[in-house]
Amino acid sequence: MSHSEKRQLKLGIGLQGGGGHWREPDVRPDGAASIEAYQEYARIAEEGKFDFGFIADSAYITKDSTIPFLSRLEPMTALSAVAAVTKHLGVVGTFTTSYSEPFTTARQLASLDIISGGRAGWNAVTSALEGVALNHGHDKLHDHALRYRIADEYIQVVKGLWNSWEDDAFPRNKETGEYVQLEKLHTLNHNGEFFKVQGPLNMERSRQGHPIIFQAGASESGTDLAARYADAVFTSFEDADLVKAQERYKEIKGRAAGYGRNPDHIFLFPMIVPIVAPTQEEALQLYEEGNRFIDPQYAVKFLSRYFSFFDFSQFPLDEPLPELGDIGQNSFRSTAEYYLRIAREEKLTLRQLAYRATNPRGDFVGTPEFIADKFQHYFEQRAVDGFIIAGSHHNLRNFVKQVVPILQERGLFRTEYEADTLRGHLGIPFPENTYALARRQAAVEQARQL
Ligand SMILES: Cc1cc2nc3c(=O)[nH]c(=O)nc-3n(C[C@H](O)[C@H](O)[C@H](O)COP(=O)(O)O)c2cc1C
Repeated sequence: MSHSEKRQLKLGIGLQGGGGHWREPDVRPDGAASIEAYQEYARIAEEGKFDFGFIADSAYITKDSTIPFLSRLEPMTALSAVAAVTKHLGVVGTFTTSYSEPFTTARQLASLDIISGGRAGWNAVTSALEGVALNHGHDKLHDHALRYRIADEYIQVVKGLWNSWEDDAFPRNKETGEYVQLEKLHTLNHNGEFFKVQGPLNMERSRQGHPIIFQAGASESGTDLAARYADAVFTSFEDADLVKAQERYKEIKGRAAGYGRNPDHIFLFPMIVPIVAPTQEEALQLYEEGNRFIDPQYAVKFLSRYFSFFDFSQFPLDEPLPELGDIGQNSFRSTAEYYLRIAREEKLTLRQLAYRATNPRGDFVGTPEFIADKFQHYFEQRAVDGFIIAGSHHNLRNFVKQVVPILQERGLFRTEYEADTLRGHLGIPFPENTYALARRQAAVEQARQL
């Protein structure tokens, strides 16, 4: 069996820089607002044969927001500029299902998919900050369950619109003068609980059919949405607990199978910040140095965002946090629950918890072999399908130069791109246009009856 036939790791990269580490010598201070910085990440990622680059997003800031959020590029425009300087890397952006129109999202993503030659991905999020609602004509944030019900219908509409044109609808034959076959255009006519969308979409399908869907929610409703629609799932991995990660892996794949999907076609990616150095001690030292550049007030504000900017500054920095009840339930619910749990279980002070959120240490600090071993272990134990790697350019260059070759050597990761669409990298089958499929099936049935 060749390497490409056996299950291999998938790797993504966080394209945004900047953040709490902006004062470190190798970090570009304007990272989140500089297209050159995004493009540089993308170039490093392609050199490492990564599957995709990812841009996180949310449409709200306050004076309490921390540096990466204050001024950052809007994902669709940034990804178009990244797509223009890359050939293979998937380009994945975050777009909310709560405060936008599905027609616009479907159209923009389909357009990005054409611009990139079939490399687009959509991280569909429900938005967990009240301010996002206030910026879009609402008086308050929809509650958690409602956000997920809207998301469900929203994704159905977007996918429906991506079905508007059959793949071979545009012969564009200069000899015959046949430009289009209009019988291959289909109108959605969606009239649901939250959306009324006629269609069709004025954008044809791409080389990968339509964009790949990513999802990042981890609550009960978030998990269900992922199992129904997502091709890839971002998970949080702060405590890197193998057993918990395996349970989540099983849960999502099992639920996907329950919805009639092939569980091998849904991929789980935790986001991690690896720190690579020649020795274990040096790697730990690098991590500690990273903390030195982060101001504690900054760290507390960073933490508070997961709780809709709950005021943590009312507590002393160096005493164990008191019982905080269930704050954060209508915000980043599962993330908020995680931080409350570790604060309680490990009796963390505010300072410790804030640093855990701002600069998570995780399990990936060490020599290249140590990190490659960890990757292999989580992967082979079916706790993950791959990782999204975040960090500075310098960190990622080290990762690509030192860790990727070990993974390749072990047959765990590709040595060359074998596809040029994101769907191809992940090995997800081409989504046949549903109208074309139905027509083909009807023809087979008719032939059988003759
Ligand atoms: C790796 C990762 C990336 C995420 N990126 C975003 C993002 O860019 N924008 C956003 O609003 N939420 C993002 N989230 C948050 C999720 O959408 C979700 O709100 C959060 O995980 C809580 O899930 P729950 O609401 O189902 O509890 C991300 C979560 C993870 C784990």
